[in-house]
Amino acid sequence: MPPARQTYDLVIAANRLPVDQVTAPDGQVEWRRSPGGLVTAMESVMQGRAGAWVGWAGEPGEPPEPFDEGGIHLHPLGLSAADVRDYYEGFSNDTLWPIYHDVIVPATFHREWWTSYQSVNARFAEAIAEVAAEKATVWVHDYQLQLVPALLRRLRPDVRIGWFNHIPFPPVELFAQLPWRGQLLEGLLGADFLGFQRQADARNFVRACRQLLQAQTRGDLVQVDGTDRQVRASAIPISVDFKGLEALSKQPEVIERARAIRASLGDPRVLMLGVDRLDYTKGIRHRLKAYEELLVERRIGPPEVTLVQVATPSRERVAAYRNLRSEIEQTVGRINGELSQIGSPAVHYLHHSYPREEMAALFLAADVMLVTPLRDGMNLVAKEYVTCRHDLGGALVLSEFTGAWHELHQAFACNPHDIEGLKQAILRAINTPTKDKQRIMRALRRRVSEHDVQRWAARYLAALAAAPEQALPEQALPQEARQ
Ligand code: ADP
Ligand code: F6P
Repeated sequence: MPPARQTYDLVIAANRLPVDQVTAPDGQVEWRRSPGGLVTAMESVMQGRAGAWVGWAGEPGEPPEPFDEGGIHLHPLGLSAADVRDYYEGFSNDTLWPIYHDVIVPATFHREWWTSYQSVNARFAEAIAEVAAEKATVWVHDYQLQLVPALLRRLRPDVRIGWFNHIPFPPVELFAQLPWRGQLLEGLLGADFLGFQRQADARNFVRACRQLLQAQTRGDLVQVDGTDRQVRASAIPISVDFKGLEALSKQPEVIERARAIRASLGDPRVLMLGVDRLDYTKGIRHRLKAYEELLVERRIGPPEVTLVQVATPSRERVAAYRNLRSEIEQTVGRINGELSQIGSPAVHYLHHSYPREEMAALFLAADVMLVTPLRDGMNLVAKEYVTCRHDLGGALVLSEFTGAWHELHQAFACNPHDIEGLKQAILRAINTPTKDKQRIMRALRRRVSEHDVQRWAARYLAALAAAPEQALPEQALPQEARQ
């Protein structure tokens, strides 16, 4: 008889594990930190909590054996090459991702992708059921796993199930395009508690249940048809590990590295920075257009002003991402060809991932941080920048279409579709007197320090434990941002 598996009182399930397995052509296996905000946030939440994390190890094929790392039990789930193509690149990132991000690029619908999404979600539910202890708390993450709550409830009615959406939840008019909209909603309604980034996302979900399932709803509660169950859908905006990241950014080596970065760029008067996964939702093209126009109009220019754009490789086999990459790289080439000076490029473009220390040094070095998404569930980069600015230096240009803007409304707000407005926001971020920028930065930092990722996780887990009996007390949001 096989030995009984160890089981856990807290189980996290996300498409990816916090680390990705990378096999070199010579067969050498290496583990690297996985990309994205979900991993950044959940890694710090799981520190000091004994629990299991079920997820894909990032390469197609047989999964590695489960192993423990940093006190977490990692339980890899295998995805075949066809699963990666159909469930991950296809349904998750070419069907759901565009629909959930305002259809910035058209969504693609394929029935075989949906079949694969169903079967991978079923395998996730089975893997979770195996490692969850009796009456465990199971916390499912993101749009890749929307069927898991209902599938898991069937397998393990004893466990408490929460789901959190790291990305926006679309208005019903867009969500309704999905041929499988009813099944997705029913999948989510298997949870006890559903968490969203913004109140608007939670409201969109409740409205979709009312209109597309004819469900009874009251406030943020949805009645599950044919049962006596109610599911609560509330906004709990995610955050960063303020204390940990602030401490990192105060390390003398990081401060020194920030100085060295500025020196290697020729000590510009204004260093602007963009840090994004190379994703069409991030508004990188709009940012470059605004920057290019400011250079052409000679309102700013190298060597006094320069832009570092860090663009993390992402989803490179999906056509929209490949096209974006070549468009961005052509644009950077053109701007540099036409507007740089010898020894002073207008744009420094870096298509790499960096260690946390280097990211903190970049944030500390940058006078203006450009966060210009067309749509973003939260955007942790904005909160990380503010967290690293213990010197009260720097200025944050922040798109109104990020979850972060609903909390950080003192930032230099922009609508990235409005190129003139974006140019004005950049100029304001450069030219506002230092004293005023320090006041703004202090307010932004206060918000993030008081609402850090530990507080987010504690609130989420308390709401899950109490759901649906108790309403979540409304988080204090700036009045004008409660949308
Ligand atoms: P998303 O989850 O859509 O990628 P977020 O801004 O919420 O966007 O989170 C991105 C996370 O990835 C942040 O923690 C950020 O610091 C990290 N990150 C982004 N680019 C890089 C990079 N080039 N190297 C290392 N970490 C990066
Ligand atoms: O929240 C957005 C998200 O899709 C996360 O699920 C993930 O951590 C991140 O972006 C990176 O995307 P991917 O896992 O597809 O590389």
